[in-house]
Amino acid sequence: MRGWDCGIEDEKHRGFGEKSFTVLGKSCEAGTAVCPHLSHTVFNIERNREQETMVNMNLDLNGKTILVTGSPGFIGANLVVRLLRELSSGHIISFDSMNNYYDVSLKEYRLAEIEKAAENSNVRHTFIKGNLADKALVDKVFAECKPDIVVNLAAQAGVRYSIEHPDVYIESNIIGFFNILEACRHNPVEHLVYASSSSVYGGNKKVPFSTDDKVDNPVSLYAATKKSNELLAHAYSKLYNIPSTGLRFFTVYGPAGRPDMFYYSATQKLSSGRTIQIFNYGNCKRDFTYIDDIVEGVVLVMQGAPEKKTGEDGLPIPPYRVYNIGGGTPENLLDYISTLQEELVRAGVLPEDYDFEGHRELVPMQPGDVPVTYAESQALECDFGFRPTIDIRTGLRKFAEWYKGYYIDGKR
Ligand SMILES: NC(=O)c1ccc[n+]([C@@H]2O[C@H](COP(=O)([O-])OP(=O)(O)OC[C@H]3O[C@@H](n4cnc5c(N)ncnc54)[C@H](O)[C@@H]3O)[C@@H](O)[C@H]2O)c1
Repeated sequence: MRGWDCGIEDEKHRGFGEKSFTVLGKSCEAGTAVCPHLSHTVFNIERNREQETMVNMNLDLNGKTILVTGSPGFIGANLVVRLLRELSSGHIISFDSMNNYYDVSLKEYRLAEIEKAAENSNVRHTFIKGNLADKALVDKVFAECKPDIVVNLAAQAGVRYSIEHPDVYIESNIIGFFNILEACRHNPVEHLVYASSSSVYGGNKKVPFSTDDKVDNPVSLYAATKKSNELLAHAYSKLYNIPSTGLRFFTVYGPAGRPDMFYYSATQKLSSGRTIQIFNYGNCKRDFTYIDDIVEGVVLVMQGAPEKKTGEDGLPIPPYRVYNIGGGTPENLLDYISTLQEELVRAGVLPEDYDFEGHRELVPMQPGDVPVTYAESQALECDFGFRPTIDIRTGLRKFAEWYKGYYIDGKR
């Protein structure tokens, strides 16, 4: 993988509130292709092993101007921190409205983490506070900063919120995404990567969910906007030859995650003595994906832009791909809750004698909800040599430890 460092052990922090070993130092060149389809070998610096990829890893992220919208949102902030720590040069622009869908101080905390990472980085970082729906501003950012790579993560997330607040989904996810596509059309980029969602699979019965499955039956407005993003991106890839990759994320969790998500809101409720509601009487399965796995997948995908090719009709074959990124091992919700409880006790968030049974209520399924999500991640594995590996206990342990430090020790 051109420009990445690997080979020498070095200790460093990654993610929020965790510490791990990665390999840094010696510079590596790409490996040799071993078959006509294998165009590149990636040195995965997280695991210090070579991975063969089916796609051409045609983008070196070093030296590039990378626009990440939705940073300092949860996934965006983790992505930007990782890029600041691991790239040797370039400019990263975080763009976010800092809206108050959830506690803004969490976004401010993540922004402070980004700024800390930027202090020790050779990569420049700029934060722009703004709304994607502001076309003039988006155009100005593209005209002045000329991003080479765009990662569009800004969106109004959440399935349940879309039932009461549809307008904001149209504004951020449809108009906002359209503004990004138009800006990419007028200021060509090397790669547009954007967040889609597992929710596009709706109530599909066939599992695991494959990107080859039909996804024409969304059960929430949120899902409909995400599927629309994929359709709009396809049209723009075809018409204007914009290399684009959509990523269907599956229930992402981790330290400093989103407080509207179950593991986080349940922790907040239990630690303040309130009762948690368990939907569909606990008969749910979710394919949970730890944040570091998501970031690893995004960083890999960013480097492999779909190739521009011309069809027999002389027009572009759309340089367009969509992948699932999900753990691939759906967890029963009740088992997930048991593991969360154990880890909250272990981390000292809750006492050992906490009455969990007395603080849970089994309730019916909610509108917009689906009983199961389960990612088929073969395409990602085949094309990029990567599949998520971080198990639920490890991931929830990191969350619980972070929660203790942030709220209890930090007296928030
Ligand atoms: N976290 C998950 O489990 C998950 C699952 C599937 C898909 N996704 C998608 O991944 C992306 C990132 O999700 P996240 O979990 O980090 O969410 P997040 O809410 O933490 O981050 C999204 C950020 O976008 C910003 N934003 C929203 N509307 C905006 C607008 N109009 N202009 C500028 N900024 C705006 C918000 O302020 C927020 O900081 C989203 O597109 C989301 O739909 C997330």
